[in-house]
Amino acid sequence: MKKAVFVSGASSGLGRAVAEHLSSRGYTVYAGARSFDREDVSPPAGCVGVKLDVTDTASVSAAFRYMLEKEKEIYALVNCAAFFTMGSCEEVPPEELARIMNTNFIGMVRNVQAVLPVMRKQGYGRIINFSSINGVLAVPFQGAYTASKHAIEGWSEALAQEISRFGIDVSVVEPGDCKGGSQKYRHRCSASADIASPYYEYYKAGTDKIHSDEENGMDQLRVASAVCGLLDSKKPPYRKVVATLTQRSSIWLHKFLARRTFNGIITDYYAPKK
Ligand SMILES: NC(=O)c1ccc[n+]([C@@H]2O[C@H](COP(=O)([O-])OP(=O)(O)OC[C@H]3O[C@@H](n4cnc5c(N)ncnc54)[C@H](OP(=O)(O)O)[C@@H]3O)[C@@H](O)[C@H]2O)c1
Repeated sequence: MKKAVFVSGASSGLGRAVAEHLSSRGYTVYAGARSFDREDVSPPAGCVGVKLDVTDTASVSAAFRYMLEKEKEIYALVNCAAFFTMGSCEEVPPEELARIMNTNFIGMVRNVQAVLPVMRKQGYGRIINFSSINGVLAVPFQGAYTASKHAIEGWSEALAQEISRFGIDVSVVEPGDCKGGSQKYRHRCSASADIASPYYEYYKAGTDKIHSDEENGMDQLRVASAVCGLLDSKKPPYRKVVATLTQRSSIWLHKFLARRTFNGIITDYYAPKK
């Protein structure tokens, strides 16, 4: 029997690529996103599109109810829904910080809490939470996004410790930059983008670098294949870094260098002092 998987954030970018790849590898895939109620947005190839807003508990319950009425069981949940805000820590308003936490982190929590009673009852299940290299280290002008991904890392670790006894495996996926994400989900803080901002020049250099790193990033299929590998594996690893050698080296440097030295290297890379 085909195994049923739910992928959130599947209307664009990596979520869409993961959903299509899993479907092509024989999984029955339910693809969740807000825009699947729009006629001009089609579900990923081979997948069932489900309207899902991860900031709305009722929408989350309805999406999983719909899937479970059809499938009875859920093998895996893959949480990809997120957005990205670029702005200085001084200038990103608390309201935007609350919004990004509510989507990227608490939205993921809502999905997990909706499927856990079912997975516990089944006695098996897989949960894959999309973190990022930003879940391990920080980058200038990505403070809000980095905070949301660090929250995912901390919460997922506790989750894994609590639910392994029910036969449920948790993995976090930490991709480096990938091409193909939509600019629609890259919010720019208007205060930092204002020429009057004390950060303006650094912000501009930093966000240009972030943009070009994404444009020249990995192919999405690399991440989609890694997710499929986790679902196919009998004993999936807890942490899966999917990154180029350069991206991986930033994780090693973060681990082994004095933080002041590491911060200097990252600042020079993204926003060098003139
Ligand atoms: N792209 C990269 O280089 C990269 C690197 C590391 C990690 N990641 C992580 O990979 C995941 C996908 O990123 P991406 O850049 O590839 O995708 P993306 O193009 O930015 O797409 C974001 C997806 O999230 C969905 N979404 C946003 N808010 C939502 C909400 N409230 N409820 C439900 N869905 C919502 C969007 O769908 P709707 O608007 O239709 O709801 C869309 O499908 C994210 O978790 C991201 O942090 C990406």
